[in-house]
Amino acid sequence: MAQTLVCGCHARNHRLKSVPPKLKPLTIMAGDKDKLDINTQLVHAGGHSDPPVGLPTATPIYASSTYTYESMAEIDQVFAGDKAGYIYTRYGNPTVNAFAEAMRVAEGGATACAYSSGMAALHAALFACELSPGAVVLASQDLYGATTNLLQTIFGSFGIKTITADFSNLDVVRAQANEYKPRVFLAETISNPLLKVCDIDASAEIAHAIGARLIIDNTFASPYLCRPLQHGADIIVHSATKFLGGHADAMGGVAVSGDQADSMALVGVMKLVGGVLSPWEAHELLRGLKTLAVRMDRHCENAAALAEHLVNHPHIGRVYFPESGAAEGRAVAQRVLRGSRAGLVSIELKDNTREAAFRFMDALKLCVRSTSLGDVFSSVLHPATASHRDLPPARRQQLGINEGLVRVSVGIESIADIIADIDQALEANSGSVSLGAHQTARPH
Ligand SMILES: Cc1ncc(COP(=O)(O)O)c(C=O)c1O
Repeated sequence: MAQTLVCGCHARNHRLKSVPPKLKPLTIMAGDKDKLDINTQLVHAGGHSDPPVGLPTATPIYASSTYTYESMAEIDQVFAGDKAGYIYTRYGNPTVNAFAEAMRVAEGGATACAYSSGMAALHAALFACELSPGAVVLASQDLYGATTNLLQTIFGSFGIKTITADFSNLDVVRAQANEYKPRVFLAETISNPLLKVCDIDASAEIAHAIGARLIIDNTFASPYLCRPLQHGADIIVHSATKFLGGHADAMGGVAVSGDQADSMALVGVMKLVGGVLSPWEAHELLRGLKTLAVRMDRHCENAAALAEHLVNHPHIGRVYFPESGAAEGRAVAQRVLRGSRAGLVSIELKDNTREAAFRFMDALKLCVRSTSLGDVFSSVLHPATASHRDLPPARRQQLGINEGLVRVSVGIESIADIIADIDQALEANSGSVSLGAHQTARPH
């Protein structure tokens, strides 16, 4: 299905079909450039050249903020929405649209729109649910901290109330739904950092029974491990900054809806709020998508091997992995995730203190102390001082995010090297080997 580009310079919102449009080669100033003054030549020489003979096999980076046409009549038609065409990159860009379209297909959606970050995508998805003052959002208690902040701070200031529930306890979700009648449910496929898998089918059923919509943040799974629309979700959101890009060099986000009618709102937020994905980043993300399947297979294979290695390790108190929880959780993981797998493992040190976690992380030589996840290299993060820093300690403890908890985003390196690095850091941490962070050679 073709993505819809909404052209909105006018008060009327027109929908233009078939993106990208077939642009005619421009002939502006062709042939005259040799006769122009040097000041003019420098500005115009090389501009508006004809498209190359032979189609590029990779999606080109359309690094242009504006677009021109042969005549004012044509521009007028495009502005009026009577003719397909790009106007201004905040309203649409061929490289950005190619990424959004790739994600629409990968998620099996009806429409998609890309943004400058995962947060911008979340904002757009929530906006598409037409929340008005007094409306309630039922959010997973395990959401990424900034998402909860977005709900409470930005949407809260418009009179929208957020309540939270443990989405792994469906009785609580059902009870909250019946009591507060939320308009929107918001959860993550795989929660951060305890890697609980959301029962999307059951959550969608509860939401739809009261006329609510279910937004799923699929960042930790990617469409390779889970396609939430197939499990009943209404809108999918990604931080493309993570597994989709996969190389820690691009930031972006995308929202994919199963309902074409959401296109107007999703594109409208892009145009009017302006959290636009850059064509350069879109190119990086498109390239990332091409290797997503092979990277995810290796991430997951390595993560499963690491989890298995650590589960009986003398310095580890607990290992979190989708397959490691109670039987009920394992059944959900098997239904929701391809191969019941994930590319991350969270570990709680036996010495469950911040000092021990920092010592362990400082002793790592290969795994990078990073503030993100989903990259080709293995990385570690300390949730209590990073993603969940803003929570009061008592609340963190209630959620099971203890001081000795470390989240490992398992990379695609040799698993033997990853295990060796983690083992030596655990040994160093236990005091039997003396290694300092200053002695380590880091890849990043
Ligand atoms: C699950 C999840 N959703 C959304 C976001 C926000 O994405 P971004 O940083 O691209 O805005 C993050 C960032 O870490 C995340 O982990």
